[in-house]
Amino acid sequence: MPVSLVIGLQWGDEGKGKIVDYLAKNSDVILRYQGGPNAGHTIIVDDKKYIFHHIPSGILYDGKICIIGNGTVLDPFTLKEEIINLENSGINVKEKLFISSRAHIILPFHKIYDVQMELFKKGKKKIGTTGRGIGPAYSDKYSRIGIRVSDLYSIEFKDKLSTIVNYYNNIFQTIFKIDPLPFEQIYSQLLELRGYFEEYIIDAMPVVRDYVMNNKSILLEGAQGIMLDIDYGTYPYVTSSHCGTSGASAGSGIPANKIDEIIGVLKSYTTRVGNGPFPSELLDETGETLRSVGNEFGSTTGRPRRCGWLDLVVAKYSTFLNGVSHIAITKLDVLDKFDEIKVCTGYKYKGKIIDYVPDHITDEIEPIYETLQGWNQDTSKINNFKDLPSASKDYIKFIEDFLEIPIKYISIGPGRKQIIIK
Ligand code: GDP
Ligand code: IMO
Ligand code: MG
Repeated sequence: MPVSLVIGLQWGDEGKGKIVDYLAKNSDVILRYQGGPNAGHTIIVDDKKYIFHHIPSGILYDGKICIIGNGTVLDPFTLKEEIINLENSGINVKEKLFISSRAHIILPFHKIYDVQMELFKKGKKKIGTTGRGIGPAYSDKYSRIGIRVSDLYSIEFKDKLSTIVNYYNNIFQTIFKIDPLPFEQIYSQLLELRGYFEEYIIDAMPVVRDYVMNNKSILLEGAQGIMLDIDYGTYPYVTSSHCGTSGASAGSGIPANKIDEIIGVLKSYTTRVGNGPFPSELLDETGETLRSVGNEFGSTTGRPRRCGWLDLVVAKYSTFLNGVSHIAITKLDVLDKFDEIKVCTGYKYKGKIIDYVPDHITDEIEPIYETLQGWNQDTSKINNFKDLPSASKDYIKFIEDFLEIPIKYISIGPGRKQIIIK
Protein backbone atom coordinates (compact mmCIF):
# COMPACT_ATOMS: atom_id res chain seq x y z
CA MET A 1 0.00 0.00 0.00
CA PRO A 2 1.43 3.42 -0.83
CA VAL A 3 0.43 5.12 2.42
CA SER A 4 -0.09 3.04 5.56
CA LEU A 5 -0.72 4.28 9.04
CA VAL A 6 0.03 2.53 12.32
CA ILE A 7 -1.81 3.75 15.42
CA GLY A 8 -2.25 2.59 19.00
CA LEU A 9 -5.83 1.65 19.93
CA GLN A 10 -5.50 1.75 23.72
CA TRP A 11 -3.46 3.85 26.18
CA GLY A 12 -0.13 3.59 24.35
CA ASP A 13 2.62 0.95 24.52
CA GLU A 14 0.61 -1.47 22.40
CA GLY A 15 3.75 -2.54 20.53
CA LYS A 16 3.58 0.02 17.71
CA GLY A 17 7.38 0.13 17.40
CA LYS A 18 7.57 -3.60 16.80
CA ILE A 19 4.81 -3.49 14.14
CA VAL A 20 6.34 -0.43 12.42
CA ASP A 21 9.72 -2.19 12.36
CA TYR A 22 8.08 -5.21 10.72
CA LEU A 23 6.24 -3.13 8.10
CA ALA A 24 9.15 -0.75 7.49
CA LYS A 25 11.12 -3.35 5.60
CA ASN A 26 8.70 -2.87 2.69
CA SER A 27 8.43 0.92 3.01
CA ASP A 28 10.45 3.73 1.45
CA VAL A 29 9.62 6.39 4.00
CA ILE A 30 8.74 6.16 7.70
CA LEU A 31 7.33 9.29 9.31
CA ARG A 32 6.50 10.11 12.94
CA TYR A 33 3.65 12.64 12.88
CA GLN A 34 2.85 13.59 16.49
CA GLY A 35 4.05 13.35 20.06
CA GLY A 36 7.63 13.64 21.07
CA PRO A 37 9.99 12.07 23.59
CA ASN A 38 7.04 10.95 25.72
CA ALA A 39 6.95 8.01 23.32
CA GLY A 40 9.10 4.94 23.82
CA HIS A 41 8.96 2.47 20.93
CA THR A 42 10.88 -0.73 21.50
CA ILE A 43 12.39 -2.95 18.84
CA ILE A 44 14.37 -6.08 19.53
CA VAL A 45 16.62 -7.38 16.78
CA ASP A 46 19.02 -10.28 17.41
CA ASP A 47 18.66 -9.77 21.16
CA LYS A 48 19.65 -6.11 20.91
CA LYS A 49 17.10 -3.68 22.28
CA TYR A 50 16.48 -0.25 20.75
CA ILE A 51 14.07 2.25 22.27
CA PHE A 52 13.05 5.15 20.04
CA HIS A 53 11.64 8.33 21.51
CA HIS A 54 11.72 10.70 18.54
CA ILE A 55 13.27 8.73 15.71
CA PRO A 56 10.92 6.71 13.49
CA SER A 57 11.09 2.97 14.08
CA GLY A 58 12.29 2.30 10.51
CA ILE A 59 15.77 3.67 11.11
CA LEU A 60 17.33 0.24 11.62
CA TYR A 61 16.99 -0.58 7.91
CA ASP A 62 19.36 0.76 5.29
CA GLY A 63 18.02 2.70 2.34
CA LYS A 64 14.98 4.18 4.11
CA ILE A 65 14.02 7.79 4.66
CA CYS A 66 12.90 8.57 8.20
CA ILE A 67 11.12 11.85 8.88
CA ILE A 68 10.25 13.56 12.14
CA GLY A 69 7.10 15.31 10.94
CA ASN A 70 5.63 18.77 11.41
CA GLY A 71 3.10 17.58 14.00
CA THR A 72 5.72 16.47 16.49
CA VAL A 73 7.39 18.32 19.34
CA LEU A 74 11.07 17.56 19.66
CA ASP A 75 13.60 18.05 22.37
CA PRO A 76 16.88 18.90 20.59
CA PHE A 77 18.93 18.01 23.66
CA THR A 78 17.64 14.45 23.97
CA LEU A 79 17.22 13.96 20.22
CA LYS A 80 20.94 14.60 19.78
CA GLU A 81 21.66 11.94 22.43
CA GLU A 82 19.28 9.53 20.67
CA ILE A 83 21.11 10.03 17.38
CA ILE A 84 24.55 9.65 18.95
CA ASN A 85 23.54 6.47 20.81
CA LEU A 86 22.27 4.94 17.60
CA GLU A 87 25.38 5.91 15.65
CA ASN A 88 27.48 4.39 18.45
CA SER A 89 25.65 1.11 17.95
CA GLY A 90 26.60 1.14 14.30
CA ILE A 91 23.33 2.47 12.85
CA ASN A 92 23.83 5.07 10.17
CA VAL A 93 21.43 7.89 10.99
CA LYS A 94 22.89 10.81 9.05
CA GLU A 95 21.78 9.91 5.56
CA LYS A 96 18.39 8.58 6.61
CA LEU A 97 16.93 11.00 9.14
CA PHE A 98 15.20 14.28 8.30
CA ILE A 99 13.41 16.74 10.54
CA SER A 100 10.54 18.94 9.43
CA SER A 101 11.36 22.62 9.83
CA ARG A 102 7.77 23.08 11.05
CA ALA A 103 8.08 20.78 14.08
CA HIS A 104 7.99 22.58 17.42
CA ILE A 105 10.82 22.55 19.91
CA ILE A 106 10.64 21.49 23.53
CA LEU A 107 12.90 23.75 25.57
CA PRO A 108 14.23 23.36 29.12
CA PHE A 109 11.50 25.60 30.58
CA HIS A 110 8.80 23.36 29.10
CA LYS A 111 10.13 20.39 31.01
CA ILE A 112 10.37 22.36 34.24
CA TYR A 113 6.84 23.70 33.77
CA ASP A 114 5.53 20.18 33.08
CA VAL A 115 7.06 18.85 36.32
CA GLN A 116 6.09 21.91 38.39
CA MET A 117 2.50 21.81 37.17
CA GLU A 118 2.26 18.19 38.25
CA LEU A 119 3.63 19.12 41.70
CA PHE A 120 1.11 21.97 41.85
CA LYS A 121 -1.82 19.60 41.35
CA LYS A 122 -3.10 17.59 44.29
CA GLY A 123 -3.42 13.79 44.48
CA LYS A 124 -5.55 12.28 41.76
CA LYS A 125 -5.59 15.56 39.85
CA LYS A 126 -2.03 14.81 38.73
CA ILE A 127 -1.95 13.43 35.19
CA GLY A 128 1.23 11.48 35.73
CA THR A 129 2.91 12.93 32.66
CA THR A 130 6.25 11.71 31.42
CA GLY A 131 7.76 15.06 32.49
CA ARG A 132 9.17 15.55 29.01
CA GLY A 133 7.59 18.99 28.46
CA ILE A 134 5.02 17.75 25.95
CA GLY A 135 1.95 19.62 27.25
CA PRO A 136 3.69 23.01 27.61
CA ALA A 137 5.33 22.75 24.17
CA TYR A 138 2.01 21.95 22.48
CA SER A 139 0.29 24.69 24.52
CA ASP A 140 2.80 27.21 23.21
CA LYS A 141 2.23 25.95 19.68
CA TYR A 142 -1.49 26.60 20.00
CA SER A 143 -0.92 29.93 21.79
CA ARG A 144 1.25 30.86 18.82
CA ILE A 145 4.29 31.58 20.91
CA GLY A 146 6.04 28.28 20.21
CA ILE A 147 9.47 27.99 18.66
CA ARG A 148 9.63 25.94 15.50
CA VAL A 149 12.72 24.22 14.21
CA SER A 150 12.96 26.81 11.43
CA ASP A 151 13.02 29.61 14.03
CA LEU A 152 16.40 28.39 15.22
CA TYR A 153 17.83 29.61 11.91
CA SER A 154 15.98 32.92 11.71
CA ILE A 155 17.46 36.33 12.55
CA GLU A 156 14.62 36.87 15.00
CA PHE A 157 15.54 33.79 16.99
CA LYS A 158 17.26 35.55 19.89
CA ASP A 159 14.38 37.94 20.31
CA LYS A 160 11.75 35.18 20.16
CA LEU A 161 13.63 33.07 22.65
CA SER A 162 14.15 35.98 25.00
CA THR A 163 10.41 36.75 25.04
CA ILE A 164 9.46 33.21 25.87
CA VAL A 165 12.20 32.74 28.48
CA ASN A 166 11.02 35.94 30.19
CA TYR A 167 7.45 34.71 30.12
CA TYR A 168 8.36 31.38 31.75
CA ASN A 169 10.73 32.98 34.25
CA ASN A 170 7.89 35.17 35.43
CA ILE A 171 5.70 32.15 35.99
CA PHE A 172 8.52 30.27 37.71
CA GLN A 173 9.18 33.09 40.17
CA THR A 174 5.66 34.24 40.88
CA ILE A 175 3.64 31.04 40.76
CA PHE A 176 6.01 28.15 41.33
CA LYS A 177 8.47 30.13 43.50
CA ILE A 178 11.49 28.62 41.80
CA ASP A 179 14.63 30.15 40.33
CA PRO A 180 14.50 31.69 36.87
CA LEU A 181 16.46 30.09 34.03
CA PRO A 182 19.58 31.79 32.67
CA PHE A 183 18.70 33.06 29.18
CA GLU A 184 22.31 33.30 27.92
CA GLN A 185 23.03 29.68 28.77
CA ILE A 186 19.95 28.36 26.95
CA TYR A 187 20.69 30.61 23.99
CA SER A 188 24.27 29.47 23.61
CA GLN A 189 23.30 25.80 23.98
CA LEU A 190 20.73 26.24 21.23
CA LEU A 191 23.23 27.93 18.94
CA GLU A 192 25.42 24.88 19.27
CA LEU A 193 22.50 22.54 18.68
CA ARG A 194 21.32 24.40 15.60
CA GLY A 195 24.74 23.83 14.08
CA TYR A 196 24.51 20.13 14.92
CA PHE A 197 21.03 19.72 13.41
CA GLU A 198 21.45 21.85 10.31
CA GLU A 199 22.05 18.92 7.98
CA TYR A 200 18.90 17.13 9.18
CA ILE A 201 16.39 19.93 8.64
CA ILE A 202 14.12 20.05 5.59
CA ASP A 203 10.91 21.74 4.58
CA ALA A 204 9.14 18.39 4.59
CA MET A 205 5.92 19.49 2.87
CA PRO A 206 7.15 19.42 -0.77
CA VAL A 207 9.33 16.39 -0.05
CA VAL A 208 6.44 14.36 1.35
CA ARG A 209 4.15 15.60 -1.44
CA ASP A 210 6.61 14.29 -4.04
CA TYR A 211 6.84 10.93 -2.31
CA VAL A 212 3.05 10.66 -2.36
CA MET A 213 2.77 11.79 -6.00
CA ASN A 214 5.43 9.25 -7.01
CA ASN A 215 3.63 6.42 -5.24
CA LYS A 216 6.41 5.80 -2.76
CA SER A 217 5.49 3.49 0.04
CA ILE A 218 5.04 5.61 3.15
CA LEU A 219 4.52 4.37 6.67
CA LEU A 220 3.08 6.83 9.18
CA GLU A 221 4.01 5.97 12.76
CA GLY A 222 1.69 7.05 15.53
CA ALA A 223 2.76 7.57 19.10
CA GLN A 224 0.66 7.07 22.24
CA GLY A 225 -2.85 5.69 21.68
CA ILE A 226 -6.41 6.80 21.02
CA MET A 227 -7.36 6.77 24.71
CA LEU A 228 -4.58 9.32 25.27
CA ASP A 229 -5.77 11.51 22.38
CA ILE A 230 -6.49 15.11 23.38
CA ASP A 231 -10.05 14.91 21.97
CA TYR A 232 -11.01 11.26 22.07
CA GLY A 233 -9.12 10.16 25.17
CA THR A 234 -9.91 10.17 28.87
CA TYR A 235 -9.46 13.94 29.24
CA PRO A 236 -7.69 15.45 31.15
CA TYR A 237 -5.66 12.26 31.65
CA VAL A 238 -4.36 12.35 28.10
CA THR A 239 -1.42 13.66 26.14
CA SER A 240 -1.56 16.93 24.20
CA SER A 241 -1.77 15.70 20.61
CA HIS A 242 -4.05 13.90 18.17
CA CYS A 243 -2.71 10.38 18.20
CA GLY A 244 -4.85 8.85 15.46
CA THR A 245 -5.87 9.27 11.85
CA SER A 246 -6.70 12.98 12.08
CA GLY A 247 -3.30 13.68 13.67
CA ALA A 248 -1.58 11.58 11.01
CA SER A 249 -2.82 13.78 8.24
CA ALA A 250 -2.26 17.08 10.05
CA GLY A 251 1.16 16.08 11.32
CA SER A 252 2.60 14.67 8.12
CA GLY A 253 1.29 16.83 5.27
CA ILE A 254 -0.48 13.85 3.68
CA PRO A 255 -4.17 14.48 2.98
CA ALA A 256 -6.55 12.07 4.71
CA ASN A 257 -7.84 10.67 1.41
CA LYS A 258 -4.32 9.54 0.46
CA ILE A 259 -4.04 7.23 3.47
CA ASP A 260 -4.74 3.80 2.02
CA GLU A 261 -4.57 1.53 5.02
CA ILE A 262 -4.95 2.08 8.76
CA ILE A 263 -3.48 -0.56 11.04
CA GLY A 264 -4.65 -0.42 14.63
CA VAL A 265 -2.28 -1.99 17.13
CA LEU A 266 -4.13 -3.75 19.94
CA LYS A 267 -2.40 -5.35 22.91
CA SER A 268 -4.06 -8.67 23.86
CA TYR A 269 -4.83 -7.15 27.26
CA THR A 270 -4.78 -3.53 28.45
CA THR A 271 -2.13 -1.36 30.08
CA ARG A 272 -1.91 2.26 31.09
CA VAL A 273 0.88 4.37 32.64
CA GLY A 274 0.05 7.45 34.67
CA ASN A 275 -3.29 8.39 36.24
CA GLY A 276 -6.79 8.31 34.83
CA PRO A 277 -9.71 5.98 34.37
CA PHE A 278 -9.14 2.37 33.40
CA PRO A 279 -12.35 0.33 33.67
CA SER A 280 -10.82 -3.14 33.19
CA GLU A 281 -7.83 -2.55 35.50
CA LEU A 282 -6.89 -5.52 37.69
CA LEU A 283 -5.54 -4.56 41.08
CA ASP A 284 -5.09 -8.20 42.07
CA GLU A 285 -2.69 -11.07 41.45
CA THR A 286 -3.85 -11.44 37.85
CA GLY A 287 -2.83 -7.83 37.19
CA GLU A 288 0.55 -8.56 38.78
CA THR A 289 0.95 -11.63 36.58
CA LEU A 290 0.22 -9.62 33.43
CA ARG A 291 2.77 -7.00 34.54
CA SER A 292 5.53 -9.50 35.28
CA VAL A 293 4.96 -11.86 32.33
CA GLY A 294 4.42 -8.93 29.95
CA ASN A 295 7.33 -7.00 31.46
CA GLU A 296 5.02 -4.01 31.71
CA PHE A 297 7.34 -1.23 32.76
CA GLY A 298 7.42 2.04 30.81
CA SER A 299 10.00 2.31 28.01
CA THR A 300 10.39 6.05 28.67
CA THR A 301 10.06 6.48 32.43
CA GLY A 302 10.44 2.92 33.73
CA ARG A 303 7.21 3.27 35.71
CA PRO A 304 5.20 0.08 36.29
CA ARG A 305 2.27 -0.02 33.89
CA ARG A 306 -1.19 -0.62 35.27
CA CYS A 307 -2.61 -3.83 33.78
CA GLY A 308 -6.04 -5.28 33.07
CA TRP A 309 -8.06 -7.45 30.72
CA LEU A 310 -8.68 -6.51 27.12
CA ASP A 311 -11.37 -3.83 26.87
CA LEU A 312 -13.27 -4.28 23.62
CA VAL A 313 -15.52 -1.28 24.34
CA VAL A 314 -12.38 0.83 24.09
CA ALA A 315 -11.22 -1.03 20.97
CA LYS A 316 -14.61 -0.62 19.25
CA TYR A 317 -14.54 3.09 20.05
CA SER A 318 -11.01 3.65 18.79
CA THR A 319 -11.32 1.50 15.66
CA PHE A 320 -14.45 3.39 14.56
CA LEU A 321 -13.05 6.85 15.26
CA ASN A 322 -9.95 6.11 13.22
CA GLY A 323 -11.35 4.10 10.35
CA VAL A 324 -9.11 1.14 11.16
CA SER A 325 -8.83 -1.27 8.22
CA HIS A 326 -7.21 -4.11 10.10
CA ILE A 327 -5.62 -4.97 13.38
CA ALA A 328 -2.22 -6.06 14.58
CA ILE A 329 -2.68 -7.87 17.87
CA THR A 330 0.40 -7.96 20.10
CA LYS A 331 1.65 -9.82 23.16
CA LEU A 332 -0.64 -12.81 22.62
CA ASP A 333 2.15 -14.91 24.18
CA VAL A 334 1.68 -13.07 27.49
CA LEU A 335 -1.69 -14.82 27.82
CA ASP A 336 -0.13 -18.27 27.28
CA LYS A 337 -0.45 -19.44 30.87
CA PHE A 338 -4.00 -18.53 31.82
CA ASP A 339 -6.77 -21.11 32.35
CA GLU A 340 -9.37 -18.47 31.65
CA ILE A 341 -9.16 -15.09 29.96
CA LYS A 342 -11.69 -12.34 30.41
CA VAL A 343 -12.68 -9.73 27.88
CA CYS A 344 -14.66 -6.60 28.66
CA THR A 345 -17.58 -6.29 26.25
CA GLY A 346 -19.70 -3.58 27.88
CA TYR A 347 -20.03 -1.27 30.85
CA LYS A 348 -22.70 -1.11 33.52
CA TYR A 349 -23.32 2.55 34.27
CA LYS A 350 -26.01 4.00 36.53
CA GLY A 351 -28.09 0.85 36.27
CA LYS A 352 -27.86 0.72 32.47
CA ILE A 353 -25.67 -1.31 30.14
CA ILE A 354 -23.75 0.81 27.64
CA ASP A 355 -21.58 -0.25 24.71
CA TYR A 356 -19.57 2.94 24.22
CA VAL A 357 -16.89 4.92 26.02
CA PRO A 358 -18.73 7.76 27.75
CA ASP A 359 -17.37 11.32 27.85
CA HIS A 360 -16.54 10.86 31.49
CA ILE A 361 -15.49 7.53 32.94
CA THR A 362 -16.16 7.46 36.67
CA ASP A 363 -15.71 4.84 39.38
CA GLU A 364 -19.39 4.02 38.92
CA ILE A 365 -18.58 2.28 35.65
CA GLU A 366 -18.42 -1.45 36.05
CA PRO A 367 -16.96 -3.60 33.29
CA ILE A 368 -19.01 -6.53 31.99
CA TYR A 369 -16.86 -9.51 31.10
CA GLU A 370 -17.14 -12.56 28.92
CA THR A 371 -14.91 -15.40 29.98
CA LEU A 372 -13.02 -17.27 27.30
CA GLN A 373 -10.94 -20.37 27.59
CA GLY A 374 -7.16 -20.04 27.98
CA TRP A 375 -4.80 -22.23 25.95
CA ASN A 376 -2.02 -22.98 28.43
CA GLN A 377 0.50 -23.50 25.68
CA ASP A 378 3.62 -21.67 24.49
CA THR A 379 2.83 -19.66 21.36
CA SER A 380 6.10 -17.73 21.16
CA LYS A 381 7.79 -20.04 18.65
CA ILE A 382 4.86 -20.58 16.31
CA ASN A 383 5.25 -19.37 12.71
CA ASN A 384 1.89 -20.19 11.11
CA PHE A 385 -1.62 -19.25 12.07
CA LYS A 386 -2.83 -22.83 11.62
CA ASP A 387 -0.37 -24.01 14.32
CA LEU A 388 -1.74 -21.71 17.02
CA PRO A 389 -3.67 -23.47 19.81
CA SER A 390 -7.36 -23.58 18.97
CA ALA A 391 -8.37 -21.59 22.09
CA SER A 392 -6.04 -18.77 21.00
CA LYS A 393 -7.64 -18.81 17.55
CA ASP A 394 -11.03 -18.59 19.27
CA TYR A 395 -9.75 -15.56 21.21
CA ILE A 396 -8.70 -13.90 17.96
CA LYS A 397 -11.99 -14.78 16.27
CA PHE A 398 -13.94 -13.38 19.22
CA ILE A 399 -12.14 -10.04 18.87
CA GLU A 400 -12.60 -9.96 15.09
CA ASP A 401 -16.31 -10.71 15.39
CA PHE A 402 -16.82 -8.10 18.09
CA LEU A 403 -14.94 -5.38 16.23
CA GLU A 404 -15.98 -6.50 12.75
CA ILE A 405 -12.42 -5.86 11.61
CA PRO A 406 -9.92 -8.53 10.54
CA ILE A 407 -6.79 -9.22 12.55
CA LYS A 408 -3.93 -9.44 10.06
CA TYR A 409 -0.83 -9.56 12.25
CA ILE A 410 -0.36 -11.56 15.44
CA SER A 411 2.71 -10.78 17.51
CA ILE A 412 3.83 -13.57 19.81
CA GLY A 413 7.04 -12.15 21.27
CA PRO A 414 9.18 -9.01 21.27
CA GLY A 415 11.63 -10.28 18.63
CA ARG A 416 11.50 -9.12 15.03
CA LYS A 417 10.65 -12.60 13.75
CA GLN A 418 7.98 -13.36 16.34
CA ILE A 419 5.05 -12.38 14.17
CA ILE A 420 2.39 -14.38 12.37
CA ILE A 421 0.63 -13.06 9.29
CA LYS A 422 -2.93 -14.28 9.06
P1 GDP B 1 4.99 1.08 21.75
O1 GDP B 1 5.17 2.32 22.54
O2 GDP B 1 3.58 0.90 21.29
O3 GDP B 1 5.96 0.93 20.62
O4 GDP B 1 5.26 -0.13 22.76
P2 GDP B 1 6.48 -0.23 23.81
O5 GDP B 1 7.72 -0.51 23.08
O6 GDP B 1 6.47 0.92 24.75
O7 GDP B 1 5.99 -1.46 24.68
C1 GDP B 1 5.78 -2.71 24.11
C2 GDP B 1 6.68 -3.72 24.83
O8 GDP B 1 6.27 -5.02 24.51
C3 GDP B 1 8.13 -3.62 24.39
O9 GDP B 1 8.94 -4.00 25.47
C4 GDP B 1 8.22 -4.66 23.27
O10 GDP B 1 9.53 -5.20 23.12
C5 GDP B 1 7.29 -5.71 23.79
N1 GDP B 1 6.57 -6.49 22.78
C6 GDP B 1 6.08 -6.06 21.57
N2 GDP B 1 5.39 -7.06 20.99
C7 GDP B 1 5.43 -8.12 21.84
C8 GDP B 1 4.86 -9.44 21.83
O11 GDP B 1 4.15 -9.83 20.91
N3 GDP B 1 5.13 -10.22 22.91
C9 GDP B 1 5.87 -9.82 23.96
N4 GDP B 1 6.06 -10.66 24.97
N5 GDP B 1 6.43 -8.59 24.00
C10 GDP B 1 6.18 -7.77 22.98
P1 IMO C 1 4.05 5.42 23.32
O1 IMO C 1 4.22 6.12 22.00
C1 IMO C 1 2.07 5.23 27.19
C2 IMO C 1 0.97 9.04 29.02
C3 IMO C 1 1.69 9.47 30.27
C4 IMO C 1 0.60 10.27 30.95
C5 IMO C 1 -0.10 10.95 29.78
C6 IMO C 1 0.36 12.38 29.53
O2 IMO C 1 5.29 4.78 23.81
O3 IMO C 1 2.88 4.51 23.29
P2 IMO C 1 2.60 13.43 28.51
O4 IMO C 1 4.02 13.31 28.96
O5 IMO C 1 2.34 12.98 27.12
O6 IMO C 1 2.03 14.79 28.79
O7 IMO C 1 1.78 12.43 29.50
O8 IMO C 1 0.19 10.17 28.64
N1 IMO C 1 1.86 8.73 27.86
C7 IMO C 1 2.09 7.49 27.42
N2 IMO C 1 1.69 6.30 27.90
N3 IMO C 1 2.79 5.29 26.04
C8 IMO C 1 3.17 6.48 25.55
O9 IMO C 1 3.77 6.62 24.34
C9 IMO C 1 2.86 7.66 26.25
N4 IMO C 1 3.10 8.98 26.06
C10 IMO C 1 2.47 9.62 27.04
O10 IMO C 1 2.10 8.37 31.03
O11 IMO C 1 -0.34 9.40 31.52
MG1 MG D 1 5.86 2.92 24.43
